[in-house]
Amino acid sequence: MRVVFDTNVFVAAMLSLKGPAAQLLEWRILVEIRVIQGSIAEAAADLVIVNLFQGVTTPAGATGAVDAALGGAIQAAIAAGDFAGKTGETLLLYTHGKLPAPRVLIVGLGEATRFNLTAARNAAATAARRARDLGVRTAATIVHGAGIGGLESAVAANALVEGTRLGLYRFEGYRSKPPKDWKPDPDWVAIVELDPARAPIYETTVARAEAVTKGVILARDLVNTPANLMTPTILAERAAAVAEETGLRFQALGRAECKALGMGIYMAVAEESEQDPKFIILEHNGDRDDLPAVVLAGKGVTFDSGGISLKPGEEMWRMKGDMAGAAAVIAALGVAGRLKLPLRVIGLAPCAENLPGGRAQKPGDVFRGMAGKTMEVISTDAEGRMLLADALAYAARYRPAAVVDIATLTGAQSIALGPHAAAVFANDDPLAARLLAAAETSDDRLWRLPLYEEYAEAIKSQVADVKNSGGRYSGIGSSAKFIEHFTEGYPWAHIDMASMSLAEEDKPAQPKGATGYGVRLFTALLEGWGS
Ligand code: BES
Ligand code: MN
Ligand code: ZN
Repeated sequence: MRVVFDTNVFVAAMLSLKGPAAQLLEWRILVEIRVIQGSIAEAAADLVIVNLFQGVTTPAGATGAVDAALGGAIQAAIAAGDFAGKTGETLLLYTHGKLPAPRVLIVGLGEATRFNLTAARNAAATAARRARDLGVRTAATIVHGAGIGGLESAVAANALVEGTRLGLYRFEGYRSKPPKDWKPDPDWVAIVELDPARAPIYETTVARAEAVTKGVILARDLVNTPANLMTPTILAERAAAVAEETGLRFQALGRAECKALGMGIYMAVAEESEQDPKFIILEHNGDRDDLPAVVLAGKGVTFDSGGISLKPGEEMWRMKGDMAGAAAVIAALGVAGRLKLPLRVIGLAPCAENLPGGRAQKPGDVFRGMAGKTMEVISTDAEGRMLLADALAYAARYRPAAVVDIATLTGAQSIALGPHAAAVFANDDPLAARLLAAAETSDDRLWRLPLYEEYAEAIKSQVADVKNSGGRYSGIGSSAKFIEHFTEGYPWAHIDMASMSLAEEDKPAQPKGATGYGVRLFTALLEGWGS
């Protein structure tokens, strides 16, 4: 089986960054993940990857077979205390002709009792990154955790592919030459499975995981791309390309169309920027009225300076990632299309740049949105909820079974949960349950917070129906309450992912930078919709 990953050259082309930058983008991506039925000990590759649980002294299964072929070299390393199988630990051995592969990498899986999906993903990512550092062109690996790890084969294989792809992710597109010690990804990684009954399961799983990781990688690229190169117009072009590739219906409403629809609140944010706003609409199974419609709406602020309520300069660069919600929605729609999910899925991404200037909205201004409700501006920096207010009004036309919005909405979310989980609010318990279950399997963590009536008090306006900021106390609760104000009778959930868009810490399957948060969450939500 051959899954060829397309490259991202057109970003570079758009920049007219030719030569090395474009080349780098072409080089960086692991080309193929294949499935081979056979014994790992006989695999012909530059590197063979096996694993070990902590505390195991006599490896069994595939690792045991490799150990036997090596005349007990793995056991000897364990006995000598050189390798314990701890999480993140690796050991490299040379085979001296005892195996077709010249090198063996053993990756630690940690304690068997604490092993889970995340550990399986991380082990795969650790091994893949080590393989790249070694400069190998080809690697053969077993599936981590399908044996004594107790994971179902398909689940474990999925984690392997996700860990491999997401761990190898890099964003190097805008350098003029490769960084020092830069190594290309391997050409291929083969999943080797002895059991002929399991190999076909792995093939199906690889195809699914490739579709999903492709989405995560797209979202990461969109978020990492600097704001001068990721304007609403460029984001819409990227969404159109996704639609073209995955069979979605695409539309992008411009300033005039949004004004005609009465989206006065969204337009208030877009007013000052030279960059035209784009309200992106993607539809999967758009004409299938017989299927339940799920609407995903993502905040697409391509740069958030705060506007007249200007942000402090320090760390302001991070606001290039303020379109991470839109990126997650666009990428998730691509995954839905690629996987041909039996649902009607609508992606809405209201996009704009938030800048100060002569025509900009001011604190105290009042605007009317598409649903006819009015809103007073307290802070022009509370712009994300303004985009979403009109997107949620627009969502009503699909008579949706559910609407889920996702946004880098508040600094308060980062304070509450840190970079460890996004917050979810919902006016519907079954929808919240679906999302929490999807968070569990996807590793895109969520924590539910309440929509207390008291939060509505904080956003009562003297002059309009509602105001866009409720002050410091529970800035996250009142922001969710503000958005709820613009929902129209459908089951609705709101995800505040402010802390999850750009990671400061390097983790095995999550290199520093854009995370692609939300893509796996939405995929899991949509895949599980019928059950
Ligand atoms: N985009 C920001 C929120 C944000 C902060 C995202 C940090 C990622 C990292 C949002 O538009 C914002 O400025 N929110 C304000 C709202 C306030 C003015 C009511 C905030 O949280 O300070
Ligand atoms: Mn803001
Ligand atoms: Zn913002």
